[in-house]
Amino acid sequence: MKILVTGGAGFIGSNFVHHILDTYPNYEVINLDALTYAGNLENLKEYENDKRYRFVKGSITDKEMVDALVAESDIVVHFAAESHVDRSISGPDVFINTNVIGTFVLLESARKHNKRFHHVSTDEVFGALGPDDEAFNENTKYDPRSPYSASKASSDHLVRSYFHTYYLPITISNCSNNYGPYHFPEKLIPLVITNLLEGKKVPVYGDGLQVRDWLYVEDHCRAIDLIIHKGTLGETYCIGGASERENIWIVKKIIELLGKDESSIEYVKDRAGHDRRYAINFSKIKNELGFEPTVSLEEGLKRTVEWFKQNEVWWKNIKSGSYKEYYGKQYGK
Ligand code: NAD
Ligand code: TYD
Repeated sequence: MKILVTGGAGFIGSNFVHHILDTYPNYEVINLDALTYAGNLENLKEYENDKRYRFVKGSITDKEMVDALVAESDIVVHFAAESHVDRSISGPDVFINTNVIGTFVLLESARKHNKRFHHVSTDEVFGALGPDDEAFNENTKYDPRSPYSASKASSDHLVRSYFHTYYLPITISNCSNNYGPYHFPEKLIPLVITNLLEGKKVPVYGDGLQVRDWLYVEDHCRAIDLIIHKGTLGETYCIGGASERENIWIVKKIIELLGKDESSIEYVKDRAGHDRRYAINFSKIKNELGFEPTVSLEEGLKRTVEWFKQNEVWWKNIKSGSYKEYYGKQYGK
């Protein structure tokens, strides 16, 4: 099987490429990635000379390039996106271009060549939950509240429409917050770890009592693997980690793991339109495909902290590179 992975140089995409090449010796992967600020070929260094792996630099909005790559692949697994909520608030344009138009370009090509298409999406399309609301599931109505989640919701609708209108063999997954190796250090967990390692403060938005459902990235990759091999065409699968925690719990846990103290915590201005709580009911993928998270949050955080300690060059290059200017402007991070 030849898989066209879009966004394979990003956090989850690169973990997925690792997963596929390490699990299936006979599979090939083409990684199409524009190498935006979030794309990093260091994540896939060990496959540079692997005949089963090919990197192509380009945008998913480039019709000709996309068409040629889709034509030679058996399946598209689509990760490429602008993924950071804070950036979507300060500059939504690129989110519409990549997440909506880019997905449309891929779909048109998949339709032309009648290729299997898996769309990687987020639980943020469902909006925000109150403390006693039931967790999101596949029947929850869409209610996106940030430009990021609205762009992902739009792309989900487009993908689903191609199933109903053109019988394109698609599946969609809506996953909760991931964490783990290669996580770009603008997101909460890697930001907290790397700031603490640098002796800096950690910014906590608002009261820090917002809740996220955390999933170790390798478990997400296993779930996508199950869906592309055994999922029912036209279906959506919600993927979660059964690990709901308040942000402040996460921050304090990392402080403990690194042997620091809570004076590092700095409460800062809240994010605009900040969703209070996300949680996922993943019983459909559990019952139909046998998926269950295997890495507990405590174990996953330990592994992640260790990974960042062992890979200082990786994140220091990012923090001192072109990303620095943006990074510095955000809440004095
Ligand atoms: P990321 O920001 O780390 O990586 C995105 C990758 O896409 C980068 O390598 C970037 O260079 C590439 N890219 C961006 N625009 C592109 C374009 N126009 N053409 C080609 N490549 C382009 O993102 P991530 O956290 O790995 O998320 C991957 C996918 O998973 C996204 O679709 C996101 O919505 C979804 N998702 C993420 C999470 C999470 O917790 N991070 C949770 C659920 C779903
Ligand atoms: P983030 O990692 O940006 O993921 P998402 O917004 O997609 O859930 O943020 C996770 C949570 O952490 C979210 O509630 C916002 C909060 N947060 C902070 O409190 N401080 C920070 O510096 C960041 C980046 C996020």
